[in-house]
Amino acid sequence: MSNIILIGYMGSGKSTVGKRLSYVLRKPFLDTDRLIEKKEDITISEIFSMYGEEYFRNLETGCLEDIILQKGEYVIAVGGGLPIREYNRELLKKIGTVIYLRANPDTIYERLKEDTTRPLLSGVNPKEKIKEMMKTRSEFYEAAADVTIDVDDMNFEEIIEKAGELIE
Ligand code: S3P
Repeated sequence: MSNIILIGYMGSGKSTVGKRLSYVLRKPFLDTDRLIEKKEDITISEIFSMYGEEYFRNLETGCLEDIILQKGEYVIAVGGGLPIREYNRELLKKIGTVIYLRANPDTIYERLKEDTTRPLLSGVNPKEKIKEMMKTRSEFYEAAADVTIDVDDMNFEEIIEKAGELIE
């Protein structure tokens, strides 16, 4: 399947890059968080607080299982925690080319410090939490990725251009 999948930590730019890439490549854009919210008819934060993280992770896997059955080609942004499950990484490989938008914790913190929609960062000391989570997650992102873009010093135009070159 010639889908393009964007992975990376929260705030790495998956949705913004994904939407622009979708326009450039003329492939419709999908976002697993938005698909889950639509299907469940509640927000991600509500899913976490009402049913817990494991329940949400199962919805993510279900979402990938739905995507794999779709006809057509898409640009797909997936939630930051989705590549952690080994089975999800296997599904990603089957679905298409995986681009990892790699950013350092300071970049992520600056982008997310005013954000209230990420339940996993709602506790005290989000900066430390970001560092900690990125440390444990990066090996899974690396394992899932076909190509990696270091986005810290790049604007969105440069990221799109780079992504275009890498998937040619
Ligand atoms: C999560 C990232 C979020 C969303 C949920 C959990 C994570 O998606 O799926 O809040 O575990 O990193 P984004 O990466 O699109 O923010």
